Amino acid sequence: MPARSPLINIMVRTAQHAARGLKRDFGEIEQLQVSRKGPADFVSTADLRAEKQVTEDLIKARPDYGLLSEEGSVREPRAGGPRWVIDPLDGTTNFLHGIPHFAISIGLEQTGTLLAAVVYDPIKDELFHAEKGGGAFLNDRRLRVSSRRKLEEAVLATGMPFKGHGDTTRLIEEVGRVMPEVAGIRRFGAAALDLAYVAAGRFEAFWERDLKPWDVAAGALLVREAGGYVSAIDGRDFTLDGKSVLASNSNLHTDVSAALAGRLKR
Ligand code: IPD
Ligand code: CA
Ligand code: CA
Repeated sequence: MPARSPLINIMVRTAQHAARGLKRDFGEIEQLQVSRKGPADFVSTADLRAEKQVTEDLIKARPDYGLLSEEGSVREPRAGGPRWVIDPLDGTTNFLHGIPHFAISIGLEQTGTLLAAVVYDPIKDELFHAEKGGGAFLNDRRLRVSSRRKLEEAVLATGMPFKGHGDTTRLIEEVGRVMPEVAGIRRFGAAALDLAYVAAGRFEAFWERDLKPWDVAAGALLVREAGGYVSAIDGRDFTLDGKSVLASNSNLHTDVSAALAGRLKR
């Protein structure tokens, strides 16, 4: 196992620091579930607290880096300089419902190139990390995407439109096309972990539309460094602010893309 770089150490320490607060807050959720007010306000506080912690730690460690975080923290990078892309709590709906599947996601990018990634699931204590050119790891075990080549053996993950956001009709069409071809489709509710699970060989592929840079920055690098392939759903280049992502174990990329579009050849 190669030693973690100073950069990854900073990101890991930061994620683990914020995770302590999230874990504590998650422990309160059960109580709040049954209260009349419900846990919604409490969760948005947990979210903001995690963001404050993560951004403070990263700014302290690398004062000259830019930053973009879901709950509103922004620091412009110097021209051509690196920028953190952060989701302090990915899987908010799970968190709110007491479902133990959420993560802190920290990516580092420079002029569109992904350089480093940490996705930390504090409940399962699973720490995914990667650096460009250095491979992807889960708790220091090297990750490889799955080697499956047959759609009928593949488990795919996706995200679904909710609360009126996104294109429900299109997702239903895509699920309808893919469902008969594969071993299963999952909707776990945390895009950063969906991507990490592709990197870990748990899912053969993941697709979703209308995600934001903080949902995908770290996860996309994890997949690539584990030997997978990341593009837009139609096979075009993936970009952080693009409208869609399709990440796979490489072997099944063309088939999944074709199946989603309804042009799978048998
Ligand atoms: C959400 C999750 C979810 C995805 C949504 C995201 P949040 O992020 O990643 O899986 O389907 O599109 O917005 O709101 O929990 O940080
Ligand atoms: Ca998110
Ligand atoms: Ca979030």
